[in-house]
Order: sequence, then C-alpha cells, then structure tokens
Amino acid sequence: MISVRRAVVDDVAVVREIGLTTWPVAYAGLVSAEFISDGLAQWWSPAAVERGITQGITLVAVVDEHLVGMVGLGQEAGFWVMWKLYVLPGYQRLGVGKALLDGAIEALPVGTEQLLLDVLVGNEQAIRFYRKNGFGEPRSTPDRDLGDELIWMAREL
Ligand SMILES: CC(C)(COP(=O)(O)OP(=O)(O)OC[C@H]1O[C@@H](n2cnc3c(N)ncnc32)[C@H](O)[C@@H]1OP(=O)(O)O)[C@@H](O)C(=O)NCCC(=O)NCCS
Repeated sequence: MISVRRAVVDDVAVVREIGLTTWPVAYAGLVSAEFISDGLAQWWSPAAVERGITQGITLVAVVDEHLVGMVGLGQEAGFWVMWKLYVLPGYQRLGVGKALLDGAIEALPVGTEQLLLDVLVGNEQAIRFYRKNGFGEPRSTPDRDLGDELIWMAREL
C-alpha cells in the first residue's frame, strides 16, 4: 500500500537520498554529467531539501515503511510550482508518482487555480506522465527564464 504524508525535518537525509539516487538514473543520456552534479549540489543539498520542507510543501510516499518517492512544491511570484517529483527507480510505474501528485494538489491552499512544473526537454517518460495527468501548456508563468533545457507545464485546478 502506498501512503503519502508531509515530510518533516527529520526526513531530510532520506528525502535527499531519493534525489541523489533517482537523478543520475533518470537524467543519464538527457543532460551532461556536469548538469547532474551541479543540480544535485544546488537543489539537493541538505539545506535546499530542508528549506523545501520548512518553507514549501514537501510530501513523501511510504511503501512498507520505506520512503520511496517525494514531491516538492514552492511559491514563486504568486505561482505554485512543483519543482521536484521523484520516485526511486525500483518503485516507478506502481502508482507512487500519481499518489504524490494527488497529495500535492490536495495540500495546496484552497482556491489555487493553477499548478506549474518544470521538466527537462527530452524527459519523455515524465512528460507523458504529466500529459496523462492533465498538464499542458501554461496560461502564464513566472518571469524566470528556464533556459533551453527546461520547459514549463501547467494543470488547471
Ligand atoms: C515521472 C515519475 C515521477 C512518475 O512516477 P511513477 O511512480 O513512475 O508514476 P505512476 O506509477 O503513478 O505512473 C507512471 C506510469 O505507470 C503506469 N502505472 C501505474 N500503476 C501501474 C501498475 N500498477 N502497473 C503498471 N503500470 C502502472 C501509469 O499508467 C503510468 O503510465 P504512463 O507512463 O504511460 O503515463 C517517475 O517515473 C520518476 O521519478 N521518474 C524519474 C524522475 C523524473 O523524471 N521525475 C520528473 C522530473 S520533472
């Protein structure tokens, strides 16, 4: 059974481990080794993961008492953005990603109209998952320039 709960500061190390394990597998062949090591250092440092828990919304998925996936959302310029959604390679395609996404939407403040995310161009597995779950072209986005490697997607709530 998959359960989803809010992450607490005690979960920092395990949540971080989900990123450190999943990123290199998911992004090998899509981006450079440098993009992966820079991204892990910037977005998966203990401090960054702790900020996501204390200042944003971070949820974890639990299967047989193991944390097997996480989702991280934050606010930027009035938009809610799902910055992270990662399921350990051995637990993908079991419904964990969907359970985390459903939990994330439930955790948003009542009245939130749109959920944004950024995804790597070429990450077809993820893009297919997002399309199937109602994400498409956003109506509007924060001003931040994502560069050539990432695109915005959005779901109307
Ligand atoms: C993308 C990701 C978050 C999706 O999570 P997931 O747990 O694999 O997703 P789900 O199991 O809920 O759904 C994935 C697929 O499995 C299918 N599925 C769900 N339960 C299933 C089951 N019991 N048996 C077979 N297939 C199943 C779903 O229909 C879905 O099909 P689709 O890929 O054709 O849309 C996950 O694969 C992942 O972490 N990937 C690597 C990292 C990544 O790219 N993250 C996104 C960054 S933006």
